Amino acid sequence: MPETVLVTGGAGFIGSHSCVELLDHGYEVVVVDNHVNSSPEALVRVAKIAGRPLIAAYAIDVRDRAALSEVFARHPVDAVIHFAAHKAVGESVSLPIEYYDTNVGGTCALLSVMHEHEVHRLVFSSSCSVYGDARTVPLSEDSPVAPTNPYARTKLMCERILEDVCARLQDLKVLALRYFNPVGAHPSGLLGEDPHGIPGNLMPYIAQVAVGRREELSVFGDDYPTPDGTGVRDYIHVMDVAEGHRVALEHLDDRAGMRVFNLGTGTGTSVLQLVDAFAAVSGRSVPCRTVGRRAGDVAALVADASAVAAAWGWTTTRDLTTMCRDAWRFQELNPDGYARPSARAGGPTPGESPDG
Ligand code: UD1
Repeated sequence: MPETVLVTGGAGFIGSHSCVELLDHGYEVVVVDNHVNSSPEALVRVAKIAGRPLIAAYAIDVRDRAALSEVFARHPVDAVIHFAAHKAVGESVSLPIEYYDTNVGGTCALLSVMHEHEVHRLVFSSSCSVYGDARTVPLSEDSPVAPTNPYARTKLMCERILEDVCARLQDLKVLALRYFNPVGAHPSGLLGEDPHGIPGNLMPYIAQVAVGRREELSVFGDDYPTPDGTGVRDYIHVMDVAEGHRVALEHLDDRAGMRVFNLGTGTGTSVLQLVDAFAAVSGRSVPCRTVGRRAGDVAALVADASAVAAAWGWTTTRDLTTMCRDAWRFQELNPDGYARPSARAGGPTPGESPDG
């Protein structure tokens, strides 16, 4: 019997790529997504890439316990991957209640419904932002945590809640994955990052400048204590993140309780290095203008990625050029994201919507 995995936030950037990875590896997939920052079109494309459909996709909010409970009643869920959350750092400062409600409230609702239906296996989407303004990099899972914004605090709170619940419920197995900076797209060019409105993150912003949708990139500060003065991050290909989740599922039963792992490459890249790599791959110029630092930003965040390698015998395989090439392919084929695909990307196939 193939395992059935419930993916919350399955239409989002990381969620949709993970659905492809799961379908490609024989899992049955049920998606729950309220589409607050995602498009149902992503799920149509997931099915197209995988060559087989999701079991079902429900347009509901994870905080809606009654609706969520019905989903668990309908499907024999073996494990849950919980992506559904808000994730923009700046927005979290202006909308803290919304962030705590969705991210922390949503996780609590999910945990109670999982408990009600005796589902004991969970992979949780955490973030490297829990480390805050790191004094030294690379960061291992034992590095001190000190979140600097509400978004990061919601992720750390969820980790704490999961620890407490695991201490009480002996059967519960949780893997929390602290991702560094997921970028890139599925190599087909059908699936990628399609933020609503002006992109808050670097890679989609660069891509939109390269394609001519925006004039120039604002570089947020060039006076950081880094080699070229711009912020350094550990960019990780979204398909490596997706693969990491699939491998995590295979290791959920290694032992009961809660474990935390970094998901990164261990390589730091500055803003200007990413701009150069993207320009080289796309053959387009990416005009930049240095502006002041962005509130809440930190100088450098790079993973010590050795713990997953030791525990699972797994490491990332896609380099920065691949990340840029795949992000650019998606941007070129979908200049306006999922809203208006170019003829080459192909539109939604009638009758293929997995919503049900
Ligand atoms: C943040 C979070 C991360 C979260 C991610 C997703 C922190 C420290 N990290 O990543 O956990 O998963 O958001 O939302 O809270 N930059 C520019 N110009 C731009 C955009 C960004 O110069 O227009 C720079 C930033 O200053 C930073 C780098 O690019 O140095 C990466 O920024 P971004 O892509 O927004 O990700 P983080 O802030 O690292």
